[in-house]
Amino acid sequence: MSSSEGTQQKVDTTRLQAIARGYTEAAVLYTALDISLFSHVHNGASSEAALVKLTGLRPLDIDRLVTCCLSMGLLLWDAGKLVNSRDVDTFLVEGSTKFAGPWMTFTRQDVPGWFDMTAKMRSPRASLLGMYDDLTVESAKKYHEATASIGFGAARRFVKLVDLNGRRHLLDLGGGSGAYSITAVKKFQGLKATVLDLPPVVVATQDYIKQENVQERVTTIGADFTKGDFPSPVDVVVMASNLPIYGSDVIADVVQRAFKALEPGGEMHLIGEMLDDDKCGPLDAAMWGMNELICGSLGRAHTRSDCVKYFEKAGFVDIEISDFVPNVLVRCTGWRP
Ligand SMILES: C[S@@+](CC[C@H](N)C(=O)[O-])C[C@H]1O[C@@H](n2cnc3c(N)ncnc32)[C@H](O)[C@@H]1O
Repeated sequence: MSSSEGTQQKVDTTRLQAIARGYTEAAVLYTALDISLFSHVHNGASSEAALVKLTGLRPLDIDRLVTCCLSMGLLLWDAGKLVNSRDVDTFLVEGSTKFAGPWMTFTRQDVPGWFDMTAKMRSPRASLLGMYDDLTVESAKKYHEATASIGFGAARRFVKLVDLNGRRHLLDLGGGSGAYSITAVKKFQGLKATVLDLPPVVVATQDYIKQENVQERVTTIGADFTKGDFPSPVDVVVMASNLPIYGSDVIADVVQRAFKALEPGGEMHLIGEMLDDDKCGPLDAAMWGMNELICGSLGRAHTRSDCVKYFEKAGFVDIEISDFVPNVLVRCTGWRP
């Protein structure tokens, strides 16, 4: 034993136990959302008795749930009254424009699959598009109710960070609800955008385009971005939040075809959950890579330097990589000379 090991604290099982029971926190959050717990608290239900009355549940179960939420820091005590923590009050109250409940339960249907991971690894079944093979208009609408509840916030962050003044045409690969395109054309005069996404998805995209009244400036193309040429010329390409769905060859090829579609001087922004180069985190990026096993695709988590390499190989210059949403999303940007 080295002298440094000798001075280390005695090892115990607490960290491992917390990991082994990590699923319990997700389940409590889902249940609190099911019964609108945080909305009730926001609207003034500041005691367990008030919550029992509003939900019709047993006092025993409300006590159990409130106790868990307090211990998780989702609820707090304020002078003897229950209140929501700041993030809960901002994002988990129904009816608020910032309500992100649909995103929080976005992967709930995958829970049984996560607990069947060993079997899935032993007899893997995967296709290039994974869960996207079976999309219908109805499932795409539901899916994008969730992505929109978080995507428009990310898009507002994007247009604050990236100056697209003078740009004329943005191509939004896998644009989903159209959050980035819609937000960008609203901010930058003279910019038009095309959302390219799978055929059932663009039906949902059109609902958001109409809702935001930007039909004149945002159009859609129903297509699979893993093949074919992209509309050209464009001067901006954005690809956001679909990186781990695909493996390296596919992403490198998409970046290459995006490069070809760009005018000289054009820019591409790849925004995704990227791993640090030593693969030691962020945990969220690693888990999105694993999510692709559960969803049956061939995707994986990519590191920051993987993404820089895809850009270099395509011919991009002045490549920059930076935190977009720290610990969640990274942005890789390059210019076509
Ligand atoms: C998590 S959503 C992100 C949507 C949007 N970019 C945003 O950030 O809000 C991923 C999107 O990628 C799209 N997508 C995945 N594979 C695709 C493919 N092969 N071709 C076109 N779109 C694809 C999905 O349909 C979905 O709309």
